[in-house]
Amino acid sequence: MRVVLLGPPGAGKGTQAARLAATWGVPHVSTGDAFRQAVAEGTPLGKLAQEYMQRGELVPDQVVNGVVAARLARDDCAPGFVLDGYPRTLPQAEALEGMLEERGLRLDAVVDLTVSEEELVRRAAGRRVCSRCGANYHLEFRPPRHAGRCDLCGGELVQREDDRAETVSRRLAVYRRQTAPLVEFYRERGLLVEVDGGGTVEEVTLAILEAVDGRLGRKGGS
Ligand code: AP5
Repeated sequence: MRVVLLGPPGAGKGTQAARLAATWGVPHVSTGDAFRQAVAEGTPLGKLAQEYMQRGELVPDQVVNGVVAARLARDDCAPGFVLDGYPRTLPQAEALEGMLEERGLRLDAVVDLTVSEEELVRRAAGRRVCSRCGANYHLEFRPPRHAGRCDLCGGELVQREDDRAETVSRRLAVYRRQTAPLVEFYRERGLLVEVDGGGTVEEVTLAILEAVDGRLGRKGGS
């Protein structure tokens, strides 16, 4: 199963990618998580990525393509992957096509999660992440059992630096300009499935599984 999740910041890509990856038994590959980990470790990649992420801008294509090519070449991606946050520009989409073609592979589906802008802003404003293990919460929709603490590891929950209101609106503008054109790119290739991302987490997962099964001509979940 080789699937890409498209959608604006806060659409639920990370939340859904983790659930889908567990259902299909393939890795969840998130460029945003990879960069945040590199930032936390203070690596040269992290220092470079941080400059762009803080401003709500995209990390240069060449850098991101290198990170993804190395990740997809690892053995655990042989049965497939769920890509979250990549590709985000036309050159990245073309690079991904090239990486897969080299191995005689292609994508199975590209899921476009659509969510109203009002809801996106609400989701970003309430998001909290564990500073230790990266688990994702929402103050209103997915609160932790103990305020400010991760249910999984007890780590402190913090707001992502790029979730401040001003940076969120810049990220939305960058999405509209640079990532939204990918919807047509994948529609033309017959890979696009559009899913309403505005329901509950469970409803959206079911809708994605159904839409992907429909695209692959199968019935029932898998
Ligand atoms: P990245 O981490 O990919 O951020 P993003 O695409 O902006 O997406 P988000 O993580 O904000 O949201 P999401 O759609 O994953 O939603 P989530 O599931 O968390 O990228 C960060 C930065 O890294 C970029 O700005 C860029 O600088 C750089 N970068 C990354 N990839 C790059 C690339 N390919 N090229 C260049 N630069 C790149 O959900 C949001 C919140 O809502 C959570 O709190 C969640 O609990 C809640 N929620 C989720 N679903 C629901 C639901 N159904 N109902 C209620 N609440 C929900």
